[in-house]
Amino acid sequence: METLLVLLLLLIVCCALLILRRKGAGSKGLPLPPGPTPLPLLGNFLQVGRKNVIKSLMKMSEEYGPVFTVYLGPQRVVVLCSYQVVKEALVERAEEFSGRAQLPAFSKDFKEHGVVFANGDRWKQLRRFSLHTLRNFGMGKRSIEEQIQAEAQYLVEELHKTEERPFDPIFIISRAVSNIICSVVFGDRFEYDDEKFLILNRLITERFRVASSPMAQLYNMFPELMEKIPGIHHRGSKCSQEIINFILERIEIQKASLDPSMPQNYIDCFLVKMEQEKNNPKTEFCLENLVMSTFNLFFAGTETVSTTLRYGFLVLLKYPHIQEKIHEEIERVVGRDRPPAGEDRSKMPYTEAVLHEIQRFGDILPMSLPHRVTCDTHFRGYIIPKLLCLLQGTSVYPLLTTVHYDPEQHSNPHDFDPGRFLDARGRFQKVDAFMPFSAGKRVCLGEGLARMELFLFFTTILQAFTLTSAVSPKHISLAPTASELGKVPPIYQLSMLRR
Ligand code: HEM
Repeated sequence: METLLVLLLLLIVCCALLILRRKGAGSKGLPLPPGPTPLPLLGNFLQVGRKNVIKSLMKMSEEYGPVFTVYLGPQRVVVLCSYQVVKEALVERAEEFSGRAQLPAFSKDFKEHGVVFANGDRWKQLRRFSLHTLRNFGMGKRSIEEQIQAEAQYLVEELHKTEERPFDPIFIISRAVSNIICSVVFGDRFEYDDEKFLILNRLITERFRVASSPMAQLYNMFPELMEKIPGIHHRGSKCSQEIINFILERIEIQKASLDPSMPQNYIDCFLVKMEQEKNNPKTEFCLENLVMSTFNLFFAGTETVSTTLRYGFLVLLKYPHIQEKIHEEIERVVGRDRPPAGEDRSKMPYTEAVLHEIQRFGDILPMSLPHRVTCDTHFRGYIIPKLLCLLQGTSVYPLLTTVHYDPEQHSNPHDFDPGRFLDARGRFQKVDAFMPFSAGKRVCLGEGLARMELFLFFTTILQAFTLTSAVSPKHISLAPTASELGKVPPIYQLSMLRR
């Protein structure tokens, strides 16, 4: 009886807390954005579920509007939908929306270190340094563009080894892409059959897969509980630890050969900065941030670019006339006697339009990464509080997928149509509702590098090959197989025929 009373009391306290929280904890009388009524502790778990969270959220926005509140377990989340709303938050109110919320299934390994999951001054220092290093530093003896060109040639050599037989492009492509990040952070590429490199790539792919699994979605909602329950979600941290050990080993090697007057790559630059700032008590240039930022660059820079390329090649198998037009443009602008270069991009509007449409249509990070507000924020007549009265803060999910598929911005958004990025005279034109790299202060730090990689890998492969499939185009499906944290194209096989 006594236990029952205690439980009842607890339930009443929880309900009262939730009501308070829904009223925005009384901040200047503004309400929280509307949303479905949450249950104590479970929040809106029963409405959202652990599979296809994004689909459930989009369904809710039909009822509650483009800005609404939902509780994923006890975690309060404000969801932003449509181009107008996402732009208003991330671009026009950039500072307020620049905080990073955690995604426990993934971010627990980082403990808020490293540029992706850091906040406040730590994030500012790491972001400034990383941007500066990626943009301005020569990255070793050759520019990044030359390194990508060289890697694309290695990739073409490797693809010739398939001898026009069908194969699954997943690993071949991701090894080439991963080598670009290796050049940036370590100053070196790996041979494609290097045992350590293969293990590293498998770990990164597996880490991503675990973070996108339904169990991981449960972990994000109920981290303390899931920590005690066995399952695949624990495999994620084991992968992370192995990746961290690999990075630590590399740092030791580089420390031994470092010439501070001639840093050759990201890790070298970070080590020099650590030394320069060793007497500054407020410095964020410590080993933990070096390891985690390196890990971040690997992770953010490998899966994203290779998934986009894989989506792109699948699109070309489905629409052979698009591939033909790209071949024509490559023939006209680049020819066959030299590799494609960054400066060709402005002369190849059709290819640029196709690459943009692949990114819009592919929409590979449909909810971006979670944000949070840096102060109590008034937005569209609502309050988004920085902190909850007792527990944690409010996460903000900008649903980029509602930008890319916004029917007010794109005609027939579910059609693959490069024409939306071309004007009447066939020149490339920008489209506002295009945010694959997100927008505002947290906009992807590797955007320039990623766009260069996409263009050079894509055109170098198409200069050398015609892509074909044993499946007829009308039976090829472009529907993604997973769309939680990341949208993934279906697994497929293709053949590359020498041109
Ligand atoms: C097609 C390729 C890529 C796509 C679609 C992509 C997309 C994104 C998105 C949507 C975000 C979240 C932004 C936000 O929080 O609002 C992000 C963050 C980030 N990306 Fe990328 N990315 C790509 C490639 C890369 C590459 C190659 C790198 C490595 C150099 C990279 C490094 C990062 C980092 C470090 C962040 C965190 C930025 C911060 O929190 O300040 N990304 N990216």
